[in-house]
Amino acid sequence: MPLRSADWWQRGVIYQVYPRSFADSDGDGVGDLPGITAHLDHLEALGVDALWLSPIYPSPGLDVGYDVSDHAAIDPLFGTMADLDRLVAEAHDRGIALILDLVLNHTSDQHAWFEDSRSSRTSEHADWYLWRDPAGWRRGKPIPPNNWQSLFGGGAWQWEPRREQFYMHIFLVEQPDLNWRNPAVRTAQLDMIRGWLAHGVDGFRLDVYDAFFKDASFASNPPLVPQPRGLARLRGWNRQLHVNDKDQPELHDFLAELRAIVDEVPGRMTVGEPLEVAPQIAAGHAGPRHLIFDFDLLKQPWKADALADAIDEREAAFGPSRWPAVVLSNHDQPRQATRYARGPERDAVAKAAAVLLLTLRGTPFLYYGEEIGLGDIHVPRKEIVDPPARRFWPFTQLWWNRDQCRAPMPWTDGPNGGFTTGRPWLRMAPDLATRNVASQSADPDSVLSAYRRLLAVRRALIALQTGSFRWVVRARGGVLAYRRDAPGEAVLVAINLNAEPATVALEDPATAALTWQPAYSTVGEDRTPLDGATLDLLPREAVILRAPLSV
Ligand code: NOJ
Repeated sequence: MPLRSADWWQRGVIYQVYPRSFADSDGDGVGDLPGITAHLDHLEALGVDALWLSPIYPSPGLDVGYDVSDHAAIDPLFGTMADLDRLVAEAHDRGIALILDLVLNHTSDQHAWFEDSRSSRTSEHADWYLWRDPAGWRRGKPIPPNNWQSLFGGGAWQWEPRREQFYMHIFLVEQPDLNWRNPAVRTAQLDMIRGWLAHGVDGFRLDVYDAFFKDASFASNPPLVPQPRGLARLRGWNRQLHVNDKDQPELHDFLAELRAIVDEVPGRMTVGEPLEVAPQIAAGHAGPRHLIFDFDLLKQPWKADALADAIDEREAAFGPSRWPAVVLSNHDQPRQATRYARGPERDAVAKAAAVLLLTLRGTPFLYYGEEIGLGDIHVPRKEIVDPPARRFWPFTQLWWNRDQCRAPMPWTDGPNGGFTTGRPWLRMAPDLATRNVASQSADPDSVLSAYRRLLAVRRALIALQTGSFRWVVRARGGVLAYRRDAPGEAVLVAINLNAEPATVALEDPATAALTWQPAYSTVGEDRTPLDGATLDLLPREAVILRAPLSV
């Protein structure tokens, strides 16, 4: 059974659902809320504690839902408010919390606020977005007010002839940034948040939360020194130090206000998605019931040294008193199941990566499909939906776009993997006949069975949920081994990243002195306890051992 204690935000496992791709209940080819509700049994059997739903609000869909045209409603594509209420109630019945995705930095250009704002300089919402006069005119064309860039490509300023002013957009032209210095914006957004809380949701993921505030004087960003080389230099965004278009001190006040509202009821939480910041800055925003993503680990290859460096950096940034979040995949990045290994070793690596995700210090975020080792799909150019890939990244779109990690979930080996009776909005993974939830449920050696066992072990071992972290073997010989200690219980995790067997000497006398009992292995064998000095690992094996600690 999932947890549902007030500290699930820290001890639990949070599962990200990409609603379009999870399960379609009405045959339109797009996943929806009743589809998610219909598959809660899977999530309960898996043993997750909370669901985070990527945006479910009305949206023209140019950023596939992250361009919101009404933050307070449900997109009919996904269902109705009653469908959301049912999902919340049925998830709660199973002890599963529900987190919504809040896109507060920007709206769609089709949001009523923006339509009014762009209509004239004196409209009701005139000052709800970031409007600026041109810096001047050159050959009859207005010059943008500063050098800010869009993360998705091109400059960040778009000319609006009706106002004869520019508006600012960090993402697509169709995603204007809100003016967070306007108290009316703040009041409207906080009211909207109270509305969702009244529907019983348990928390929010805050999209690019550190970009809400920009420098009040709209100063240009300084250039990055030295300048990036290679493909990276093609994007103007990469050539600047982003000191003035995000990470402003005013954010702290707003977060405090938001957190006070969320904290009115115990057992609610938020998690912030920072926009490309170092772990040190991210850690500064973390607090009780308020997590911050830190994507450094996710960017590392499946190599012991690289992973160990990222873990050290995070541990140093967060320190023992702040609680990190652990993420290996999400809807913006290539999936871990294919990023780490593509050949026949893929499932073995997927199982080992699951151990890393679910045993590091921090709250794990598990992206839908990873539990069956779902891989990235190859989306032919003419089928690409992801707008930045279509418009701005023509060089890379053949081998990288965000559609690749958003394939619909295969539930069965039937037509379209049982995802829809219609035509899926995005192509299914080609291996769905064997890689689907039903087949893997029946196979004790599958990635899914490994995840289920692992989540049950995690639930039984408090040290894995809340324990401290320290290295036992820091990447030596391609092995990561670490201890998680809680009062009365120590857990030893060892991951062999090699294709060959490994023998790990436990040089730390305090660790070698304990009597370790096996709790879990990715190869599923019953392992014998350690002899005290060494641990033998099979190729790509990951193990969890436990020992009582005297208190
Ligand atoms: C971050 C989201 O994860 C991404 O999918 C989206 O495109 C941008 N924010 C803009 O909302």
